[in-house]
Amino acid sequence: MTTPALFTPFTLKDVTLRNRLAVPPMCQYSAVDGVTNDWHLAHYTGLARGGSGLVIVEATGVSADGRITPGCTGLWNDAQAQGMARIAAAIQKAGAVPGIQIGHAGRKASANLPWEGDDHIPANDPRAWETISPSAVAFGGGLPRVPREMTLDDIARVKADFVSAAIRARDAGFKWLELHFAHGYLGQSFFSVHANKRTDQYGGDLAGRSRFLLETLAAVRAVWPENLPLTARFGVIEFDGRDEETVNEAIELARNFKVGGLDLLNVSMGFSTVEANVPWSGGFLAPYAERVRKEAALPVATAWCIDDPKIANGALEKGQLDIVMMGRAQLENPHYPYQAAQALGLENPAWATLPSPYAHWLSRYKGAGKVAAQ
Ligand SMILES: Cc1cc2nc3c(=O)[nH]c(=O)nc-3n(C[C@H](O)[C@H](O)[C@H](O)COP(=O)(O)O)c2cc1C
Repeated sequence: MTTPALFTPFTLKDVTLRNRLAVPPMCQYSAVDGVTNDWHLAHYTGLARGGSGLVIVEATGVSADGRITPGCTGLWNDAQAQGMARIAAAIQKAGAVPGIQIGHAGRKASANLPWEGDDHIPANDPRAWETISPSAVAFGGGLPRVPREMTLDDIARVKADFVSAAIRARDAGFKWLELHFAHGYLGQSFFSVHANKRTDQYGGDLAGRSRFLLETLAAVRAVWPENLPLTARFGVIEFDGRDEETVNEAIELARNFKVGGLDLLNVSMGFSTVEANVPWSGGFLAPYAERVRKEAALPVATAWCIDDPKIANGALEKGQLDIVMMGRAQLENPHYPYQAAQALGLENPAWATLPSPYAHWLSRYKGAGKVAAQ
């Protein structure tokens, strides 16, 4: 049989993924002072061992005030970088490519852990910190705090923080970097007309609202190795009723990302407004990713409800995507890739997806009844 597209390798720059299934970044909210621990090591090792080609470590703050919650990971000091180096090495040893997402949470920062409220920590609580955003406009809902409008010095400081975090990620051994410009956090807020009301060069028209993202990309590109993928996650749509305009602007930005040296866009949603009406269904973002792929000529990935191997494989075969991200399916079952390979009828799925200490037994002796004691 021909290998299903989901289980064919994917090469970007000098990096080859063993298949096109990836673990998207997923916060664990389990760090202390931004430093990872045994939980993170076991969690990411398990996911990598499960067979995905790429494992992207969770949204990691470029600064203390850039974390979403007090439990989020960081990369602004050496202790954090040392913890991350162990995780990158463990992911690689298990056969996946180690990636990491770095970002600043902007007006959505200083929040309680999801299972402790998922809302802003009250400003007078000693655990809270000041939030910043392009403009002094609150997100709303459970995140009502009005952020401080960033000065030009703040903008320069955050760009420099992205660069320092990228250097630490590089030195920690990550082979794939994702800039978090999505989900209503700081990068997305600069692009969003809901969050950005600035009248200076960082606001206004598309060029103004793109400036922070393109300048951050350029600054990071200068320190991230040319031979390794530099990617971003970005919300191309808000589902807020002005979607055609947003998607067209996003595609224009994607073209500029490409000119600026971006290697792949992880296409996602904006989450910049509480008014969004998201049409959840299997693979619903794939057509938007496909537009970016074709109109901006940029490789793309996407996630969100593509947890059916046939939908995932079909999107790849139709040329909508280059990589499929599956999050919650892999939290539920870290061996999801192996089972997806079986579901697609892949011959010897263990060999194709699992590291040798598992694959050897499953591919060679499966069905043999008795395994000799070794
Ligand atoms: C526990 C959890 C944490 C998440 N944290 C992040 C994150 O750190 N960065 C990010 O870009 N998206 C984050 N997301 C979104 C996921 O990356 C992914 O897009 C989402 O789960 C949808 O894909 P799925 O339907 O395959 O789960 C998170 C999702 C979950 C469930």
